Amino acid sequence: MTDPLLAYQRLHRQSLQEPEKFWADAAQAIHWDRPWDRVLDDRHPPFYRWFSGGRLNTCYNALDRHADGGRGEQLALIYDSPVTGTQRRYTYAQLRDAVARVAGALRAQGVGVGDRVVIYMPVVPEALMAMLACARLGAVHSVVFGGFAPMELAKRIDDAQPRVIVSASCGIEPGRIIEYKPLLDEALRISKHAVDRCLILQRPQREASLQAGRDIDWHHAVGNAEAVACVSIAATDPLYILYTSGTTGKPKGVVRDCGGHAVALMWSMKALYDIDAGDVFWTASDVGWAVGHSYMVYGPLLAGATTLMYEGKPVGTPDAGAFWRVISEHRVKALFTAPTAFRAIKKEDPLGKLTGRYDLSSLKTLFLAGERCDPDTVAWAGSMLGVPVIDHWWQTETGWSIAGNFRGLAPLPVKPGSASVPAPGYDVQVLDENGASVAGCTVGNLVIKLPMPPGSLPTLWRNDEGYIDSYLSRYPGFYLTGDAGYLDEQGYVWVMSRIDDLINVAGHRLSTGAMEEVLANHPDIAECAVIGVADALKGQLPVGLIVLKSGVTRDPSLIVNELIASVRAEIGALAAFKTAHVVGRLPKTRSGKVLRGTMRAIADGRSFTMPATIDDPAILNELASILTSGANRDR
Ligand code: COA
Ligand code: AMP
Repeated sequence: MTDPLLAYQRLHRQSLQEPEKFWADAAQAIHWDRPWDRVLDDRHPPFYRWFSGGRLNTCYNALDRHADGGRGEQLALIYDSPVTGTQRRYTYAQLRDAVARVAGALRAQGVGVGDRVVIYMPVVPEALMAMLACARLGAVHSVVFGGFAPMELAKRIDDAQPRVIVSASCGIEPGRIIEYKPLLDEALRISKHAVDRCLILQRPQREASLQAGRDIDWHHAVGNAEAVACVSIAATDPLYILYTSGTTGKPKGVVRDCGGHAVALMWSMKALYDIDAGDVFWTASDVGWAVGHSYMVYGPLLAGATTLMYEGKPVGTPDAGAFWRVISEHRVKALFTAPTAFRAIKKEDPLGKLTGRYDLSSLKTLFLAGERCDPDTVAWAGSMLGVPVIDHWWQTETGWSIAGNFRGLAPLPVKPGSASVPAPGYDVQVLDENGASVAGCTVGNLVIKLPMPPGSLPTLWRNDEGYIDSYLSRYPGFYLTGDAGYLDEQGYVWVMSRIDDLINVAGHRLSTGAMEEVLANHPDIAECAVIGVADALKGQLPVGLIVLKSGVTRDPSLIVNELIASVRAEIGALAAFKTAHVVGRLPKTRSGKVLRGTMRAIADGRSFTMPATIDDPAILNELASILTSGANRDR
């Protein structure tokens, strides 16, 4: 029998030595309206395009091909919503017909090829339908996570400049209804870009008032719409824009193109997740994140599998057995979620007593991603479920796994704490500050040698320069992942931390810079810093350190409360910004750079080396006593 590591290494080498052959072979699994002229178009480095000259429609590949090709009666989508007490099921034929009419409703509002449509919705089937309807028309969707506040939504509206916005009257969080429509109205009030039409899904839990002339009722519009056919689109045309946190308050519009995306996701469904047509695949995330885009919507449907949309939480809807119920009830073969979900379950049911109530025999693999997975969580999940627990590493920018354990191809031994090995097409390397290769198990900057494989971002939306500045300028010829880590002697990737000011809170990627911008706007604040500190449940939590302007005599705890409310109102509840400390001054280098890494180490109780360039070492003692005592804390 071949050693799986050798089999993997051979495949990975082939993918790097003969990328055109590798991806042309993978592209055979997709229906093309016109074949490509070039598999890899490398005429304009550092911009690389895949399958240029080719034409296809992603919605056709995800729905019509299966609906008309013998899977019309098979389930395409199961919606399970403990927060509303409802479930719905759609066969491929039903889902295709529904999406064709949603596309008709959008076209009736003038949406055509290249137009942008912003989608601001909870995890409901209509969100998936709206995405696929855009794909059907060749329009470009930009889904905004429902937990973002109006200001964040407005930034994305201004950048994407949509013709239409699709939203819902409300989302449902455990114990409370979130009215989306007033948030949308407020975003449209503050955005510079004017939108002609909003298509609003009225949910029975809380209906919204519609603005005459601008807002249209989803049910009415879709009920009266004609079903429209798929439009043939260039492989290099954008399928969607997905905004993600950068180091400043301005989100980055990651562009995903049609052809490379379809090929990479289709390939990954079998190779990485071991999912075949007809299997049930569950991604417990949100449609607003890249994980939701790739593996709740497009990947499983491209593969002819059944996808599951779950509108609920791992705990509290109603209990820590919720995931086990869903697995057993819908015969889920593989579950993909963030480690934080398992930490939440473990906290409530540490002995896993609730697993005993359910038949979990359908489950073959658990996939975790979105944040570093601590070995304890891997071990706990594995012992509860009795299946391999696969950590894999990826980013919104790449759209699929940079490193993983290829269960359908060459399953490798699991090393808890490592995201396994680089995916085909990804030449992952470790570089030091000077760009020299780092050997052995030494931590350095994780980079990917260009070109990256199909599916990864070709650029940022209307911002080629920003793409180069953010990712390519640090090490010419390489994509900077922003993560630090190392490769071990067998080539396994160990992702240890970010090198920038992004933090990861419950699997949500957030910018501390964006939070600092909110804090800095407060009239009493002279200076501030936000750092991510380790948290046993959410991985990291943001903590603010604020310096008041001289002469401010107001009660500091009132100011802290105002800051907490501002971050919630301007970024959203998902930021989980609940702690801030008033300090005398911030530790800085003599050149004025705030020493965030040192503060993080103090807050986490880790040892650190006193920076040689610190301007005033005594400040660290003050900070240590504040950060570890909980003074000025508001939870
Ligand atoms: N709309 C409005 N508000 C939302 C929201 C949405 N779509 N999603 C979350 N929020 C709110 C929550 O209600 C919460 O508000 P609160 O501060 O008033 O309690 C806040 O945003 C933080 O939400 P969340 O990050 O979900 O934390 P939580 O404490 O409610 O739950 C977990 C913690 C671990 C259970 C939860 O994060 C989870 O299920 N994670 C699963 C993994 C995941 O989805 N990862 C995403 C990337 S793969
Ligand atoms: P996002 O773009 O929101 O998916 O966040 C991407 C970032 O999450 C990565 O750059 C990493 O910092 C982190 N991340 C994702 N998956 C993993 C993983 N398996 N291990 C460690 N970090 C991860």
